[in-house]
Amino acid sequence: MNPFKLAILISGNGSNLQAIIDKFQNDKLIEISCVISNKKDAFGLTRASNANIDNYFIDHKDYQSRQDFESKLISILESYKPDLVVLAGFMRILSEVFVNKYLGKLINIHPSLLPKYKGLETHKKVLDNNDKYHGVTVHFVDNTLDGGPICAQSKIPVETRDLEKLEEDIHKLEHIIYPEVIYEIAHGKLSLEEGKVRRT
Ligand code: GRF
Repeated sequence: MNPFKLAILISGNGSNLQAIIDKFQNDKLIEISCVISNKKDAFGLTRASNANIDNYFIDHKDYQSRQDFESKLISILESYKPDLVVLAGFMRILSEVFVNKYLGKLINIHPSLLPKYKGLETHKKVLDNNDKYHGVTVHFVDNTLDGGPICAQSKIPVETRDLEKLEEDIHKLEHIIYPEVIYEIAHGKLSLEEGKVRRT
């Protein structure tokens, strides 16, 4: 049986990438076929190299337009024919053309309980608003910013005023939930059907 192939897009530290590597590196059914970063110094590229995963740095600044950058991205992705494109801290907005090409095969993780706190600085917003709970969301990507159909959420009570500690706690949740969702999609238990999440 052919493995279910993941392509992972990153821009930074890649702790979520690491969690996915740790979960699936000895899995016969799920394979991380490539990692792509738009940042040269992204530590995630080192993590990928350490795990012998093909990895690429594509500098968006080398391209005249978003479309040109994404064409390069797509040409690399298509050489692997991924079953799922996983955004793991990828800090570029993707165009409608890219999103539509991978609709239903493109997921993202966001550090908030969406629809609360789209965009950046979610941990700060949680503290500023004295929220009782904070959490993470994994969603299919559509053409809305952080707004696609939700695959799963996980939450914790906010028990600290320390921004870094809160961020760390949220990262721990991310490292559990993201591989779980990937597993479910790869095993056909979760999919996007006509714009809605379907679980079987
Ligand atoms: C995570 O908090 C994720 O939710 C957000 O970007 C961050 C990436 O962290 N989209 P890392 O690079 O995986 O450590």
